[in-house]
Amino acid sequence: MTIAASTYTSITTKHLIPLIKALPKAELHLHIEGSFEPELMFKLAQRNNITLSYDSVEALKEAYQFNNLQEFLDLYYQGMNVLQTQQDYYDLTRAYLDKVHRQNVRHVEIFWDPQGHLERGIDFATQITGILQALKEARSQQGMSYRLIMSFLRHLSEESAFETLEQAKPYLDEIYAVGLDSSEQGHPPEKFERVFAACRELDLKITAHAGEEGPPDYVWQALDLLQVDRIDHGNRSLEDPALVKRLADSQMVLTVCPLSNLKLQVVKDLGQHPIPAMLTAGLKATINSDDPAYFGGYMDENLIQLQQAVGLNAEQIITLVRNSITGSWAEEERKVELLAELDKVVSQFS
Ligand code: ADE
Ligand code: ZN
Repeated sequence: MTIAASTYTSITTKHLIPLIKALPKAELHLHIEGSFEPELMFKLAQRNNITLSYDSVEALKEAYQFNNLQEFLDLYYQGMNVLQTQQDYYDLTRAYLDKVHRQNVRHVEIFWDPQGHLERGIDFATQITGILQALKEARSQQGMSYRLIMSFLRHLSEESAFETLEQAKPYLDEIYAVGLDSSEQGHPPEKFERVFAACRELDLKITAHAGEEGPPDYVWQALDLLQVDRIDHGNRSLEDPALVKRLADSQMVLTVCPLSNLKLQVVKDLGQHPIPAMLTAGLKATINSDDPAYFGGYMDENLIQLQQAVGLNAEQIITLVRNSITGSWAEEERKVELLAELDKVVSQFS
């Protein structure tokens, strides 16, 4: 059953925040290393006898001021150095899952960057085993469903990506998709065309960060050369009407991250965020947190702060949340279940 749009108009502004909190949600764009809260980072640093470059949690948090993506990535890779053991990967993942479970996130699709750990000497098995242990526990204990996405670092070489894919081969039952992230400018999707062709041969789903800082041409390349199943961010697609038409006609999912866009100065203020324009253009946009520990908010904070800044109405909120369920890679039965829950919550508010 799908609720008619007219019923949404009965949901008043004062109920929008409770509505956001109550809706069952799916998160499709989350880097597990970006959920590393300073408190946990300090705890694990102590456990592993690692000295951080900052004296305190407060000093570290104060450093979270970024002019662009690269300034953030420099700290993000530094933060990862603390992760050493399977238990560390488990603790990191479990902390994220516990947090979003309390926000009614019911399905997650999590990126991790194996190369950021392999190059520090942490083997593939240590990383993936710890992450999967937490995901499986959350599935059995909290009813969370999940997909794990292995992301290639685009500032590294094609050869390094191929080597990483080789390391992933024993775990392909557990890896649902591959992605492309890190420094976008100067590292176009075409650099990885052959890697992604190999991934498609292995029946992996494909996504890529594109149009976050990079030009619309990088989004075209992700579509035509990598043959992506979805686009991460995609903000700059709006600069190219033919691209907007292509994305709208194909109902390509965009995993948009408002607080990330604000913190990385992709938008100057949240009131100018392109989500309303994306919805008006018929794009299948979803809301996600990207790197919540660094950008100041998880799923609910992204939706709430965006709602406050651009004045999203109930219909827009419900569309965004519905898009994340229908646009996810969850099993069809799971999508039906989550959509039924969503309709139930909406009817309680209507
Ligand atoms: N890695 C982690 N977060 C990222 C982002 N927002 N863009 C590119 N690479 C990332
Ligand atoms: Zn991202």
